[in-house]
Amino acid sequence: MESLTNRIMTYINRLFTEGTVSITIGGHSVIHSMLVVTAWRRLYHRWPALWQLVCIFLHDVGHFGKNYLTSVEEKNQHWELGAWIAYNLFGVKGFKFIAGHDAHSGFPHSDLYKPDKYAWLLAPVWWLLYNNFIEPKVRASMSGIDAVRDFKRKVRHNIESGEYRPSHDFYLERAHKEDRNA
Ligand SMILES: [Fe+2]
Ligand SMILES: [Fe+2]
Repeated sequence: MESLTNRIMTYINRLFTEGTVSITIGGHSVIHSMLVVTAWRRLYHRWPALWQLVCIFLHDVGHFGKNYLTSVEEKNQHWELGAWIAYNLFGVKGFKFIAGHDAHSGFPHSDLYKPDKYAWLLAPVWWLLYNNFIEPKVRASMSGIDAVRDFKRKVRHNIESGEYRPSHDFYLERAHKEDRNA
């Protein structure tokens, strides 16, 4: 029979997933949302409406409880919780706004899609280094500074070329490269 300690550890592990760390103190924390607001201003030359602002701060909350770096499937579901909350707060427009920030949701891109990607171009180097420390899996086998330089180069190309690919792709490419070299 499973010991009480093992059961408690199982629950703690479930709570402190990669996504929970990321949404509270890592790369998808409130700082990411603030950078999305800044990106929104740069792209659209206006402030988001109040309901859009609330959605921006909710859009990545679905990382909570998910191992978004280990599981592509869990990453692809991360939009659902925020979209559900937004639906309850603002109806269909809120749902579509958050669902449309993620390329894997199956919903058309919303006005949140581009600022969400552009935000990574605005991310300061010190914050990316800090994120690599808090979420070491992000940098795969690279050193912290090399991982940040690599990420910055890819993000710049992503925005300047107008591609606006999901930023998570750059992590996946790095992780696959690490697998091939293993
Ligand atoms: Fe997201
Ligand atoms: Fe985001």
